[in-house]
Amino acid sequence: MSIDLRILNHLGIQLYSNVAAVLSEAVANAWDAEATQVAIDLTPETITITDNGSGMDRSQINERFLNVGYDKRREEGDCTPNKCRPHMGRKGIGKLSLFSVADVVDVYTSNGSEKHAFRMEIDKIRRSIEARGTYFPEPIASRELKGTQIVLSALKRKRVMRTAEALRKRLARRFSIITYKRGDDSFDVVINGHRV
Ligand SMILES: Nc1ncnc2c1ncn2[C@@H]1O[C@H](COP(=O)(O)OP(=O)(O)OP(=O)(O)O)[C@@H](O)[C@H]1O
Ligand SMILES: [Mg+2]
Repeated sequence: MSIDLRILNHLGIQLYSNVAAVLSEAVANAWDAEATQVAIDLTPETITITDNGSGMDRSQINERFLNVGYDKRREEGDCTPNKCRPHMGRKGIGKLSLFSVADVVDVYTSNGSEKHAFRMEIDKIRRSIEARGTYFPEPIASRELKGTQIVLSALKRKRVMRTAEALRKRLARRFSIITYKRGDDSFDVVINGHRV
């Protein structure tokens, strides 16, 4: 990943003031990945977002996820490849918002044939970008899944700790198509086991 530190600070660390907004970014990415299910699990120490979407292969991780400013519409057209959902992604910066709620972001992803996992830590990103202008996430042990799982840990302060119930409401308000059905295409978001 290459990014100007000022951009990381402004777009990632400072821009988002609440967890619901950040979770909406993850849900939007799951939508674009053609997931039918997104599970958000909150514990005092972690927030885990698991989708059953397309997952990412190595080149998609490098060229899309780790590419700040990835232009989804230019590269992939107006809608998703199989279900033709209109893309929610626009700017290629949504993932940076994860760092406004957590210092550590673990990503597990699989497209069904290859699986990958890596950890991103805000301190290391800062130091590495400062020294070299680029950051290489740290490989970690992969998990068995089809889709993408993002685990947020080293959560920042108390503002992160909303009740699951309050988050469900806020997320539903921010994300008007959170329950969706068109033909045999559906999209469900579940927080701590309860459907939003
Ligand atoms: N859960 C996911 N499953 C599969 N691919 C993902 C997932 N999350 C992110 N990606 C890939 O990483 C890219 C970058 O994500 P990011 O949220 O930063 O930008 P975006 O969604 O393209 O645009 P926006 O800035 O509007 O969010 C996505 O376009 C997508 O290709
Ligand atoms: Mg996005």
